[in-house]
Amino acid sequence: AQDFLIAPSILSANFARLGEEVDNVLASGADIVHFDVMDNHYVPNLTIGPMVCKALRDHGVTAPIDVHLMVKPVDRMISDFIDAGASYITFHPEASEHIDRSLQLIRDGGCQAGLVFNPATPLAYLDYVMDKIDMVLLMSVNPGFGGQSFISATLDKLKQARRRIDESGRNIRLEVDGGVKVDNIGDIARAGADTFVAGSAIFNARNASDPHGYDSVIASL
Ligand code: DX5
Ligand code: ZN
Repeated sequence: AQDFLIAPSILSANFARLGEEVDNVLASGADIVHFDVMDNHYVPNLTIGPMVCKALRDHGVTAPIDVHLMVKPVDRMISDFIDAGASYITFHPEASEHIDRSLQLIRDGGCQAGLVFNPATPLAYLDYVMDKIDMVLLMSVNPGFGGQSFISATLDKLKQARRRIDESGRNIRLEVDGGVKVDNIGDIARAGADTFVAGSAIFNARNASDPHGYDSVIASL
């Protein structure tokens, strides 16, 4: 049996009532909270940091928090997010001077570590670190914004990443981020992903009769 995880990206949530939005998606069946950290340097947008992660923990969120660091440099934010209650911490290899060290920092802090691959970043960064990661995250859009279209070359890249993970024999999650919708998630799963980030697909699905109800879209994903 496959275990699939749905990870709503809170980038598309209503930040004015973030705790409630997170409670709602978790109550509607989401498994983990995808937390996008942008620094207006590594990517051209600015979002949320460790204080907001800590605030969600203090609010009572017990689900895993999947911190996607789009920041450069990364190491300082790794320590801060460990202290703020992160569960997974992933970063882009291009943003770290010492990838092996950054991965080690994450695991030493008791979190699960992962590398994120931009659409044009080669999977070769995995060659010498398969024993040091718990997650591979493939970007299916260029990082920086929600609501972009899925880049179809990611399907072939997912198959290659799936092969590497299976050959390693290790327990490593394969996550996909960007443009995941109800109508393409089947193909994405068949290409080998087991963890699905969805931002706009979930948070734009509020409807008039039940403005907080995300059940139907999460169930269809
Ligand atoms: C983009 C972020 C994504 C984004 C996904 O840089 O990493 O997590 O919020 O949003 P959608 O699902 O709308 O493409
Ligand atoms: Zn993300």
